[in-house]
Amino acid sequence: MAINYYEDTCVFKLDSKDSSYLIKIADQKYVGHVYYGKKIRGQDAADLLRIKEPPFTPSTNERDKLPFLDTFPFEYPTGGVGDFRETAIEIRDQEGYEALELFYESYKIYEGKPKLRGLPAVFAEKDQCMTLELKLADSNLGLSVTFFYAVFEETDVIIRSVLIQNTAQKDIYLTKVLSACIDMDNKEFELITLHGSWARERHIQESKVCHGFQGIGSTRGESSHQYHPFIALKEGGATQETGEVYGMHFVYSGNFIANVSLDQFESVRAVMGIHPEHFCWKLGPGETFQAPEVVLVHSIEGLGGMTRTYHDLYRNHLIRGQYKEKQRPILINNWEATYFDFNSDKLISIAKEASKLGIEMLVMDDGWFGNRYDDNRALGDWRVNEEKINKGLKNLVEEVNKLGMKFGIWFEPEMISPDSDLFRDHPDWAIGIPGRTRGLCRNQYVLDLTRKEVLEHTYESVAGILRSANIEYVKWDMNRQLADLGSLGLPKDRQGELSHRYVLAVYELQERLLNEFPDLLLENCSGGGARFDPGMLYYSPQIWCSDDTDAIERLLIQEGTALIYPLSSIGAHVSDSPNHNVGRVTPFETRGYVALAGTFGYELDVTKIPEEDRKMIPEQIALYKKFNELIRTGDYYRIASYRTNHFYDCFQVVSKDKEEALVTYIQVLNRPNCHSRRIYLKGLNPNRNYRIEGEDKIYGGDTLMYAGLNLNKISGDFKGYLIHLTAI
Ligand code: DGJ
Repeated sequence: MAINYYEDTCVFKLDSKDSSYLIKIADQKYVGHVYYGKKIRGQDAADLLRIKEPPFTPSTNERDKLPFLDTFPFEYPTGGVGDFRETAIEIRDQEGYEALELFYESYKIYEGKPKLRGLPAVFAEKDQCMTLELKLADSNLGLSVTFFYAVFEETDVIIRSVLIQNTAQKDIYLTKVLSACIDMDNKEFELITLHGSWARERHIQESKVCHGFQGIGSTRGESSHQYHPFIALKEGGATQETGEVYGMHFVYSGNFIANVSLDQFESVRAVMGIHPEHFCWKLGPGETFQAPEVVLVHSIEGLGGMTRTYHDLYRNHLIRGQYKEKQRPILINNWEATYFDFNSDKLISIAKEASKLGIEMLVMDDGWFGNRYDDNRALGDWRVNEEKINKGLKNLVEEVNKLGMKFGIWFEPEMISPDSDLFRDHPDWAIGIPGRTRGLCRNQYVLDLTRKEVLEHTYESVAGILRSANIEYVKWDMNRQLADLGSLGLPKDRQGELSHRYVLAVYELQERLLNEFPDLLLENCSGGGARFDPGMLYYSPQIWCSDDTDAIERLLIQEGTALIYPLSSIGAHVSDSPNHNVGRVTPFETRGYVALAGTFGYELDVTKIPEEDRKMIPEQIALYKKFNELIRTGDYYRIASYRTNHFYDCFQVVSKDKEEALVTYIQVLNRPNCHSRRIYLKGLNPNRNYRIEGEDKIYGGDTLMYAGLNLNKISGDFKGYLIHLTAI
């Protein structure tokens, strides 16, 4: 069994494939963290909880209760009573007091994992995981808090979340509710985070954990371009494939915080949850608050092991719908091809050429509705612009379908332009504070989706268009952050709920859409990849990764993204050269290799590109068809990183049965006077032999991994190739 309770020692032991997690109830009250790490057989580690040394527990040493609270490794630290480190929960009661102390009450252990109401969540069959519920309460306040731990036995995943209930007769204000905390002795940890900006999302950063607080977060109303709701702690000396790594990833798409601190006694505390800034939730008598999930992954195979665990978990237990297991249609999107300057004829001319080359879906991006001739207007006016789409949407879709192609469409449903009929009719529908001028971003405001009438209208606007024609794909975009937080739909003591309620409303909209259109392929997007997070992945099996489509920039962006997300979820397209973002000229072939490590598609005017590039499209499509199954379902290994070596990038995907592997090698910059480059493959079967496609020679899996492979030299920059291996 994955979860056991030992009554004699008051220890809960959670075992996954190669890891153990031990919790102990000290003094029959305090829920303490004993151990998280490599699997151990017994529960003798419980003695490691330092309760038999000063300051002792309050039952033996009441006079030093505060030093106890300030050093005890809590599963879920509370504020206001003496733990002066980072807390996981803070409250304010009716009288304005802020103290909260949680004492253990009871537990439940059961098979499977409950759903979270209104929130995206990892799902599993009953026989795939077990859940431990620990119920704690503060009887002074009348607040109960239940910790959830879902343990996957076959993989090293523990999912944590928290449910809070007001059992008193008075309101309680939750001013901070995080979802998980881990307290551990420092193991020379290094902290890994993902940082970025628009067009530079999810670049990997590593830094030593040092005394004080280190952290990331977003208060932008979305998970953001700037930081990603993920951290990993890598023990000193751990490498890409060896040593212990702990990952924490937040299944949420709004404001978040992820903090790591090293304290006076060399203990590390890592916390993750909804950002407490702009958060204050009024919990009325009997009401509950459900915090989103954090996915904990423990790896004994370095960063690579953590990556592969996240990939498998998300592919199997987070992504839903018919496309979960399916090859995605190869799309061509007109954004970089035309921007706002298009009409039906232009789109049909692109579709005609694209269909001849084997492209399977046309996606009509921004600019098809209302008065949308540029990005200054018309968001909210979701009626087809008949000047551009002159015979109507249904006709356009039919024309595209006649070419044997599917049709997809772009929406930005959460927004409203000041210059729109919707705003003229409903100026109060935008988020804002009465009497204060709202700030603009891309000349748009955010709709207050927390209001029922706004949500209904928004849903009907999108669904109405989808009902009107055979639309099989939606790109759901979101191009600004939330500010001037005010909702006319909320009373003054609930304004602090707006940011979270907004995210819940987005989830509700997408869930409804998928219920009404279950076969729809949804691709989330937010000015590129500002809302690329596990929350969104629950609704859309793929997410647009970045507005930077340059192949070389994408190496960095996709390396960071693939650190946690399966390649099948990473929206990646071949676009024009010189690239619209950086002006870099790269070979069409290279752009194809990089996009193959994602969903694959095109974002260019196929009627205008050079003939030699156009001719390459059917070849690239053949490569996609040949390798997509492997790329979508295989194990991902990082061989070398351009981020750290500054010259080349190399990664590999190996099929689960190790019968096949694909290596992608991109030489970013050439160097003079060098030997051929040697790489060491990973994940192969050492006892099998492999043939490299295009060569007669056969190599042992062991040779390729331990002795290595010399790569053929290439002259020039930004060039690359694929190496396909099959076991014989
Ligand atoms: C931002 C997206 O990331 C782009 O791909 C494109 O859809 C534009 N928005 C359209 O406004």
